[in-house]
Amino acid sequence: MLAPIVSIQQVSKRFSSQKKQETVLEQISFDVHKGEIIVILGKSGCGKSTLLNLVGGFEQASSGSILLDGEEIKKPSKRCIMLMQNYALLPWRSVEKNVALALEGEKLTKDEMTERVVHYLGMVGLLDKRKALPHELSGGMQQRVAIARALAIQPEVILMDEPFAALDTFTRYYLQDELISIQQREQMTIMLVTHDIDEAIYLADRIFIMGANPGRIYKEISIKGAKPRNRADADFQHYRELIFNEFQFTSNKQQIEYNI
Ligand SMILES: Nc1ncnc2c1ncn2[C@@H]1O[C@H](COP(=O)(O)OP(=O)(O)OP(=O)(O)O)[C@@H](O)[C@H]1O
Ligand SMILES: [Mg+2]
Repeated sequence: MLAPIVSIQQVSKRFSSQKKQETVLEQISFDVHKGEIIVILGKSGCGKSTLLNLVGGFEQASSGSILLDGEEIKKPSKRCIMLMQNYALLPWRSVEKNVALALEGEKLTKDEMTERVVHYLGMVGLLDKRKALPHELSGGMQQRVAIARALAIQPEVILMDEPFAALDTFTRYYLQDELISIQQREQMTIMLVTHDIDEAIYLADRIFIMGANPGRIYKEISIKGAKPRNRADADFQHYRELIFNEFQFTSNKQQIEYNI
């Protein structure tokens, strides 16, 4: 097996306030390989966003280390980009200028920049909206602009924190398919956080189920079967049941380890 692109090694994270110290993540360890879609699945408050923030370099682990391609992550880098849940588009800038903004600081000529913006807006099907302002777009379209902006930077890893949570079911399904086809074309690595079991099964190569208080990985499940997957078939139901049962265990705050 190739060396991991992201390696999370015995990571714990504590937050301290004047009153108390809270351990949010405890002894998290796993590797992510190039071209994988890893989904972190867990209930609200279990530490999913905290874990993603550590990988993105926005926070530092209290102990343990996180490596990107063998080097410790100490600050945010363009090799590993976070896709924000609220899209974080600048409302006064057009769609194309929002995407171009991410490329400022890169050594690109004006033509190269335009080419890159057009390429990635085309990839998410929004070339005809390039002159529009964000408020003139639907939520799903705004999220596609945010995806184009992240892709334009050409990162090796994209971190996604509940990227489709605010969208209706049909838009979510559509964007999940779009994400799979873009990922298969571009071969980037994705770490995605969700509390939606179906989304996890649909997208993931591997799912890590997290339990809370303190946040830790309870179970790793490899999802077999080519993508796009059929949400109605027997395999999908099997995984759904498996994961659902797992959550009942995590609710009891038992720490269990067994193999499927
Ligand atoms: N900067 C911080 N300072 C103190 N506590 C924090 C901080 N960030 C997160 N926490 C705490 O860490 C725990 C996990 O938060 P986190 O946002 O990672 O959860 P989550 O799994 O992403 O939840 P959700 O699904 O609701 O987004 C919570 O108890 C939260 O209050
Ligand atoms: Mg969160």
